[in-house]
Amino acid sequence: MLPEKLTNALNDQFNNELQAAHAYTAMAAYFSKKGYHGFANFYLIQSKEEHFHAMKFYQYLVTMDETPVLQALTEPKNHFVSALDVLENSLSQEKSVTSNIYALVTLAAELQEHATLSFLDWFIEEQMEEEKSFRDIIARVKAVEEGGEYFLKMDDEFAQRKLEE
Ligand SMILES: [Fe+2]
Ligand SMILES: [Fe+2]
Repeated sequence: MLPEKLTNALNDQFNNELQAAHAYTAMAAYFSKKGYHGFANFYLIQSKEEHFHAMKFYQYLVTMDETPVLQALTEPKNHFVSALDVLENSLSQEKSVTSNIYALVTLAAELQEHATLSFLDWFIEEQMEEEKSFRDIIARVKAVEEGGEYFLKMDDEFAQRKLEE
């Protein structure tokens, strides 16, 4: 068993991850409609990944002899004006998940719930990667606007530069 306040916060995050999965499916649909099937695939996998995160919370609650409780999903953003709009919404969604995770860590630390702290470590790492991945994609999309495809090719070349000693 866990303190009630922590159980509720973990359960909320279980539902937040399901909401994130829902939001990414809506983003996939935007790209499918546009015919950008690669981006659609990326977002469908992103959605599955969020579902996988939700299930980690589910399993953790069960392991700690608590019961996951499903909440209603809200309608995600379904209309976007551009790929960049979708990507920027993704990054801000990830940033808000990061602050939810940090708040959970703070609460677990206050309550001296060490098992929960150790469980949450994985999510701290994951959020760093998620934010970086969207920042990188946004940079590449902006690079196309800035200097076209050749600019991106140059960027790839420069990434290979090594210090000559
Ligand atoms: Fe997640
Ligand atoms: Fe995520």
